[in-house]
Amino acid sequence: MVMEDIYHRPLLDLRISVTDRCNMRCRYCMPREHFDDNHEFLPKDDILRFEEIVRVVEALIPHGLRKVRLTGGEPLLRRDLDELVRQLRACSEDLDIAITTNGLLLNKHLSNLHEAGLSRVTISLDALDESIYKSMGDTVASPTVVLDAIDAAQNIGLPIKINAVIKKDVNDNQILDLINCFGPRNIPVRFIEYMDVGSTNDWNLDHVVSAKSMRRTIEQHFGTLQANQPHHASDVAKVYSTTSGWKIGFIESITNPFCGDCSRARLSANGSIYTCLFTDKGHDIRGILRMDASDEEIAEAIRSIWLQRNDRYSEKRSNQSKKAKVEMSYIGG
Ligand code: GTP
Ligand code: 5AD
Ligand code: SF4
Ligand code: SF4
Repeated sequence: MVMEDIYHRPLLDLRISVTDRCNMRCRYCMPREHFDDNHEFLPKDDILRFEEIVRVVEALIPHGLRKVRLTGGEPLLRRDLDELVRQLRACSEDLDIAITTNGLLLNKHLSNLHEAGLSRVTISLDALDESIYKSMGDTVASPTVVLDAIDAAQNIGLPIKINAVIKKDVNDNQILDLINCFGPRNIPVRFIEYMDVGSTNDWNLDHVVSAKSMRRTIEQHFGTLQANQPHHASDVAKVYSTTSGWKIGFIESITNPFCGDCSRARLSANGSIYTCLFTDKGHDIRGILRMDASDEEIAEAIRSIWLQRNDRYSEKRSNQSKKAKVEMSYIGG
């Protein structure tokens, strides 16, 4: 039986963070002054083992789970991630298994992930310009590494999406270049409004470029954008097509929130369920996982959390943006 929350939203997607560590320090996500050598990342013993993650997924599939997304931090920092993909694929042939990665380590792991049964990959790339990329990600890495991985993923036949967080006066001048780079290759680019996740990124409304204003800029160069029908009510991106058929998505969490159909649960690397990206409260399920609970008991524990869910942070954000929130690198994007 499908699990529904207070607003009758089903639990269809599980976003699984496999590590809270990252090899980048994007200013909007893990600013280095907060995530420095003194930062205490999760101890190894607290982190769910692959078998424990698989138990959660197995328990939820009979209740309607159709998609899992592996995130971090940077998920490819977790050793043998392809083994997790293999175990998840063994749970169900139909499960949509995606990964969100910054792409720096992707080339190395690509063929193993593909062979293990990964369905698709979403790659974060905020800029093509080398110096903007380096300063936004606070990294010495070059975007060419990511571009090479994208080439390789396309060659192997893995469906790809590109995510770019847009910050005003920082990388808004990259929007057209990103479209020109990926449009002709039939790779959808999704522009994300900079969000007030976590408590360390000094978020401020002045840094946000609204999707509407991005669309205005894009239409001046590429002509009228045609809105596509959503595939699922719970899709986060509003997708448009250019006159030449290039797909461009917008994730408008600030100016056009999409909580109404939100079917996403999040599992942190240390085994807590979060019912919203913007909550400060997780519900521990590692305890029961380590007590040899049955599938039914795991499902019941999650159902009792989901039944009480009334989150719709993005719709109510204006009067609560000062409250404590979990960091995105800890529960995944
Ligand atoms: P598919 O539609 O399955 O391809 O994936 P997705 O768009 O759900 O996943 P992805 O990781 O690419 O999400 C894109 C971005 O949207 C994330 O990095 C977040 O910034 C944002 N996002 C995802 N889920 C939520 C959500 O539930 N609430 C809010 N406010 N933002 C979200
Ligand atoms: N606002 C919007 N998106 C963010 N991400 C991380 N932090 C933020 C933020 N403050 C996105 C990244 C990546 C995913 C992991 O989360 O761009 O696509
Ligand atoms: Fe790492 Fe992704 Fe956060 Fe950047 S946005 S610091 S790549 S987890
Ligand atoms: Fe879902 Fe919370 Fe995001 Fe709204 S803010 S879409 S409830 S995760």
